Amino acid sequence: MKMIEIAPSMLSADFGNLDRDVEMVNRSEASWMHLDVMDGVFVPNISYGFPVIKAIGRNARKPLDAHLMIVNPQNYVNQVRDCGVDLMTVHQEACPHLHRVVQQIKDAGMKAGVALNPATPTMMLDDILPELDLVLIMSVNPGFGGQKFIDLALPKVRRMRGLIDSLELATRIEVDGGVNMQTGKLLADAGADILVAGSFVFGADDPEATIASLRQL
Ligand code: DX5
Ligand code: ZN
Repeated sequence: MKMIEIAPSMLSADFGNLDRDVEMVNRSEASWMHLDVMDGVFVPNISYGFPVIKAIGRNARKPLDAHLMIVNPQNYVNQVRDCGVDLMTVHQEACPHLHRVVQQIKDAGMKAGVALNPATPTMMLDDILPELDLVLIMSVNPGFGGQKFIDLALPKVRRMRGLIDSLELATRIEVDGGVNMQTGKLLADAGADILVAGSFVFGADDPEATIASLRQL
């Protein structure tokens, strides 16, 4: 059976000890480092931007998975790539010309992902799905770590799994928000490939062991 992959969200890291937390993720069984960029416009919070991504990327030995919660992500594709990002995910709700942005991301040499807010139906990606390396299903309203899991993400993951399998695509399903052992198990059973986990990992007494336990789900 294939194992679930874990992408710790660095939003919950200790920014005063960033290198220590990057090293913890390097040592762990995580597959990706998840980087949350928020602009205070698309979401009601501001997180961090390019200098911090570069600082993380300098020491990271896991691929960088950047989740852009910003308006006009098309204006920053090359800057994101130049920070060493491997996979760039933009929000469907922020991109009226989604197909063009996805092509820009791929032309820049990165993998392309598209995120859906909890209220956005999976149907919005029906046509573009074959172009995507990743679909990111939000299981909280984006903007903050530590929020409660929204159950309606589960049928969305199941629906997306069915669609991807029926089309025989290699597109991965990542889920982000409120992931812990209980919700993680439900998501793994629903067909998720990658789980993002922030507060559950970094708030644990032993974050590295917590990543290993999530991976066993
Ligand atoms: C929320 C971010 C998440 C966040 C997850 O807007 O996209 O990646 O860090 O945090 P937890 O795992 O604490 O819900
Ligand atoms: Zn995220």
